[in-house]
Amino acid sequence: MQDQDTKIPITLVVNNTEVKLDILPNTSLLDILRNELGLTGAKKGCGIGLCGTCTVIMDGKAVRACVVSAEQANGKEVVTIEGLGTEEKLDPIQEALIRHHAVQCGYCTPGMIMTIKSFLAENPSPTSEQIKQALSGNLCRCTGYKQIIDAVIDVVSNTKYRVNIDRSSYILGESVPRVDIVDKVTGKTKYTADITLDKMLYAKVYRSPHSSARIVKIDSAAAKKINGVIAVITAADIPGSKFYGKAVQDQPVLAVDRVRYFGEPIALVIAESEPIAESALQKISVEYDPLPAVYHPLDAMKPDAPKIHTEQIYQSLAPHSDAVNTRNILYHFPIRKGNIEAGFAQADTIIERTYTTPWFEHACLETESAIACYDEQGKLTVTAPSHNVYFDRREIARVLGIDKEQIRMIKSPMGASFGKREDIYGQILVALATYYTNRPVKLVFTREETFTVTTKRHPMQMRYKTGVTNDGKITAVEVEIIADTGAYASWAPNILRKAAVHAAGPYSIPNIVVDAYAVYTNNVPAGAMRGFGATQVAFAYESQMDEVAKVIGFDPVEFRRRNLLRNGDTTATGQVLRSAIDPGATLDAVVQQYAIHNRKDARPHHSSKKYGIGLATIFYGIGYGYGIPDIGTAIIELTTDGSAVISTSAIDYGQGLATIFCQIAAAVLGLTLDKVRIITGDTELTPDSGSTVATRQTYVTGNAVKSAAEKLRGEITSFVAEKYRISQDAVTLIENSIQLEPRGKIPLSEIIQQMRAAGRPTKKQARFKPVTQRLDPITGQGEAYYPYTFGTQLAEVEVDIETGEVKVLTLLAAHNVGKAIHPGNVLGQLYGGIAMGLGMALTEEFVISEGIPKTVNFQHYRIPKSTDIPEIIPIILEAPEPTGPFGAIGIGEPAMIPTAPAILNAIANALGKRIYELPASKNKIISILKEE
Ligand code: FES
Repeated sequence: MQDQDTKIPITLVVNNTEVKLDILPNTSLLDILRNELGLTGAKKGCGIGLCGTCTVIMDGKAVRACVVSAEQANGKEVVTIEGLGTEEKLDPIQEALIRHHAVQCGYCTPGMIMTIKSFLAENPSPTSEQIKQALSGNLCRCTGYKQIIDAVIDVVSNTKYRVNIDRSSYILGESVPRVDIVDKVTGKTKYTADITLDKMLYAKVYRSPHSSARIVKIDSAAAKKINGVIAVITAADIPGSKFYGKAVQDQPVLAVDRVRYFGEPIALVIAESEPIAESALQKISVEYDPLPAVYHPLDAMKPDAPKIHTEQIYQSLAPHSDAVNTRNILYHFPIRKGNIEAGFAQADTIIERTYTTPWFEHACLETESAIACYDEQGKLTVTAPSHNVYFDRREIARVLGIDKEQIRMIKSPMGASFGKREDIYGQILVALATYYTNRPVKLVFTREETFTVTTKRHPMQMRYKTGVTNDGKITAVEVEIIADTGAYASWAPNILRKAAVHAAGPYSIPNIVVDAYAVYTNNVPAGAMRGFGATQVAFAYESQMDEVAKVIGFDPVEFRRRNLLRNGDTTATGQVLRSAIDPGATLDAVVQQYAIHNRKDARPHHSSKKYGIGLATIFYGIGYGYGIPDIGTAIIELTTDGSAVISTSAIDYGQGLATIFCQIAAAVLGLTLDKVRIITGDTELTPDSGSTVATRQTYVTGNAVKSAAEKLRGEITSFVAEKYRISQDAVTLIENSIQLEPRGKIPLSEIIQQMRAAGRPTKKQARFKPVTQRLDPITGQGEAYYPYTFGTQLAEVEVDIETGEVKVLTLLAAHNVGKAIHPGNVLGQLYGGIAMGLGMALTEEFVISEGIPKTVNFQHYRIPKSTDIPEIIPIILEAPEPTGPFGAIGIGEPAMIPTAPAILNAIANALGKRIYELPASKNKIISILKEE
């Protein structure tokens, strides 16, 4: 038998180059490629062959490099993404992916391309079903696969085109190649785990095996003795604040005295290599005194429930919670509109139902990671996936007890987020590690770690009581939302507030009571996820709309139309609605399109299959809302080569924001896109523009970019008018009549040089801030958000009543985006959002039993594959928002919000029975069919 500790010589050919190595036999091919050869295009998304991000071609076949050993690779010929195409000569598959905007975060892209390459070599003329099958082993969380499949079809049909990547266009509304696209399709993009620094150390986290326990003693002496271990850090070593947090600073960086959830970090090992750090974890000994735990918010609210936090934390929350009087309530947000008793008294029928959503995992294909080092000027520099580099810098500084100016925080390219990276995972830990060791330190979570300890979507139990008249008018709605926020607050207050504001849906209801509670438990912390609380309540309110319609004998569409908000109506918070689009427009668009599309002949005739149709219509408030300073900031500088450089901390985690900002600036300045560059997410180089959350950045920072560009344009216009003694009106006229090179025959580079010589400004900063109000703490009344966007989706499903399997046949989706600055991106957000909503509806559930996560890989947490995606019919409505940049508002979160309720309503339509608890798994369907 081969000795696993003895290195063996292997020879392989990688990208046409022979490589000889002495290597441990169980080293994976992926580790050889990444660690020995520096070929980081293949990614470690799961490490157990489930996600496909590590796919390479070995002897002509696509393989998952993470499960191929060195011995198996010996003597083989391997092709990686680095061996496929270059910017100068792209492979036709890479070109097709660019053309179809089939890349968002790009983390799945190299593996996806290698699978396609191998598949088409074997089967050059596949059907679209065969393409879907071929891609089914490669997960993508961003795109919904549609544009990838379309790209492959294009390659198969041998479409003759060259991708124009010189970006010689600036036209708004044109789907130009994204600014980051070439690096992503060629595997050049360096995500955090791909970065290696000189003299770099590796960190690993020792985590709690208990959900609730007092820490009696931590003994790390044996771990420190291991050769190659540099340090073991515990809470006692933290020089500044031992706690951090976004909404509430209740979360220990490393456990202080006690642990509150399974997997909570207790110690940080820093070593010369990852394997040494891992072996040191086994030598750490912690003595625990187990404490009572509570795992459900209803139990946690009971008067005799164990208190999860100290009295000090509850006291600090007192201004915005009932925590002092009620156990473990982190936050309570009330809404009171009208007279609820009178509203129910006017009703002919009152219907009460309870809806439940489970924990959901973001399932970004990149696991959590961070790197810290000191730069040449001695500044502590932290690089990590992040939604907000300024937030992260503030928290790192507090924990280290140093001035924030001594820290530089940089956002690395991100393997998506969907809200996950709005929380901090590795940033503070690597900063501590570098602070103590004075060396670069990298921390990369395993897939199991990411599943186990990172934030999830809040599970919610939502009780709805609706009063309605016989003619279909809703007179009153009472809602109680109880959310499990797990052991720490994260963004729970903000999320529960958003849930409450959206709880009554886009309907005009005179009398409303909402009580939303976030409750501490001993589960993994919950946090931000696409839709931010509005997603869970949409499932509830749109299910309830169908339930009520059914009870009173109304058509669901007609019932919605009778109650939809109109401009001038008031929302649940008493806000007078001002919308550029009629709130019913997306509903009308879907209904009209369905009338055209409806294919009754395609419906199943098999006796075991039931057909159903359902829809959901939603609204969504863009931005932070609630009077929180919601400021977008951008600086644009004109350079002497005639280019513009945008800098903003608003980050692009795959949704395409950077390209949209470039398009906006290019359009205002009259430049082609190749003359516009962008720097994002770096506290040293970019101004604070808040978090990339809440579908706010296209609107908020997009406005700031436009405004900065307009200021510069004004400067140029004035200068040219003065310099060449022509009236400013004439210059403006010339600019407006010439789309490209607005300054006519005078090159911009020359004008900028002249402006600089004359001491005229060539750099401008602009800010944009939407106006919202802090809501009344007793009644929740006020201007909660601005603007609101609307969307409607309709699902056709086929339910197999023998197996419980649900197949979504078609999904029609109508959304208002104000103005589609980049239609390819808009569609990408829509398809990706629908895929995520599909998973939420049918298969996804993060299972926690007694505080211990059970679904810690992609085998058990089942996100949609290429074969699960239905026919999607997008309907993009463009009603320009007067305050949006060129009329644009966002689409990122609204894209997914109606999907699950539309599918659940379709299932109820098919079966005549409803599932009240997501997801609609096969077992649940079989179970309700057995009910009388
Ligand atoms: Fe596929 Fe992000 S683009 S995972």
